[in-house]
Amino acid sequence: MKKDIERILIDEAVIQKRLDTMAKEIETDFPAGPIIAIVLLKGAFVFAADLLRRIPRELSIECLNVSSYHGGMESSGKVDFLDRHFPEVKGAHVLLLDDILDTGRTLAAVAKRLEEEGALAVHTGVLLAKDKKRAEEVEADYTGFEIGDEFVVGYGLDYKGKYRNLPYVGVLKLSAAN
Ligand code: PRP
Repeated sequence: MKKDIERILIDEAVIQKRLDTMAKEIETDFPAGPIIAIVLLKGAFVFAADLLRRIPRELSIECLNVSSYHGGMESSGKVDFLDRHFPEVKGAHVLLLDDILDTGRTLAAVAKRLEEEGALAVHTGVLLAKDKKRAEEVEADYTGFEIGDEFVVGYGLDYKGKYRNLPYVGVLKLSAAN
């Protein structure tokens, strides 16, 4: 796996340290009462597991299977909801977590759906946000790191299903992307 990585963009220790700060911010900002964390699969599972364990609050965790990249390197432009059931969010404060904000289509589509389903408020957190013009006007309330417009893998992010288990975020070698 390592041989396919051009360079490490954000190493493990830096990610973990940043998550300490993000968790504290969320803990301080969220009103009293239960939180529903919505984790977007598959990419956000590593980030969410590490972040949510740092928030000592009563919260429930739901996962949503959405897909826009379909395994490749570019967003398909269409967000698919793959689950048969949508979690119950009526009246809840929701913390919507994703691994990366790129075109913004995924976060915008899911936030809209959560609002339609009656969530009281939708707060968004992403590990990475690409510094680029988005197709949808959306920014996260909590961003771990802003990165350039490069294709990155690791810490939950994949290329064709691989590299999610790397403990860091790295740039994929062009030779590995085929
Ligand atoms: C990726 C990523 C985000 C989304 C971001 O998901 O995990 O959810 O794309 O891109 P956007 O801002 O352009 O919408 P993907 O469809 O690859 O699914 P995965 O999480 O299962 O890898």
